[in-house]
Amino acid sequence: MKVLGVSGSPIKNSNTDRTVKAVLEATGLETEFIKLRGQSIEPCRACLGCVDTNECVIGDDGNRLAQKAKEADGLVVGGYTPYSSIDARSKSFLERLYPLRHKHGFMSGKPGIAVATCAIPRDCEGMPPACDNGANDISFYMMEEGMNFLGVVKIQGNIPCIRCGYGDICQSAGLKMIFGENATVDSVGVNTAEKQDHAMAEALKLGKEMGERLKKS
Ligand SMILES: Cc1cc2nc3c(=O)[nH]c(=O)nc-3n(C[C@H](O)[C@H](O)[C@H](O)COP(=O)(O)O)c2cc1C
Repeated sequence: MKVLGVSGSPIKNSNTDRTVKAVLEATGLETEFIKLRGQSIEPCRACLGCVDTNECVIGDDGNRLAQKAKEADGLVVGGYTPYSSIDARSKSFLERLYPLRHKHGFMSGKPGIAVATCAIPRDCEGMPPACDNGANDISFYMMEEGMNFLGVVKIQGNIPCIRCGYGDICQSAGLKMIFGENATVDSVGVNTAEKQDHAMAEALKLGKEMGERLKKS
């Protein structure tokens, strides 16, 4: 039994990466973690060239990654949410799993878990539901492929203004848009996944559930 985990976050050792790894570890199974940054994955071209072969016609890393997903018994996908929807790397990765669908439904029945990281806190008035959007984008892939979607881990991440150097003076600072006119880099602070007890508990619970289900199967 093997579980594949991918992270679409390009940030080194990001909250998304570490949370995906926490879920993988909780499975107690053999796992592989892949960071999508550095992989070359075009989005699906909608050419249907994969229908007969179950392989994409594009000669980039997408086919190799799809093969890994096909061989895995469970899948964990983590994305972050630039402009409050799933990041392009995670989306391209999911689109490129389309070849696995035809005739065989190679992902069908496999357990899947989503990790979504966002800067906008839940129920922030007038702002998009970033984490829900990211989680939906991943979970809808899993549902549409007939996977057994186990749940989502939502992580409160960091707005880039925290580390860009101009967070306190920038006219367009998302920092003030989200946290109010008086918010500063210091008052908002840095969010760390490991300090979010509820989210970490969910990561452990879901990972363990995936591991137990796969050991029984
Ligand atoms: C270019 C950029 C745009 C972003 N836009 C949003 C946004 O619109 N909404 C949001 O909730 N978070 C936004 N974020 C914040 C990310 O979702 C946040 O940085 C996330 O926590 C990064 O996760 P990581 O630490 O796992 O890489 C943005 C981040 C970047 C880098």
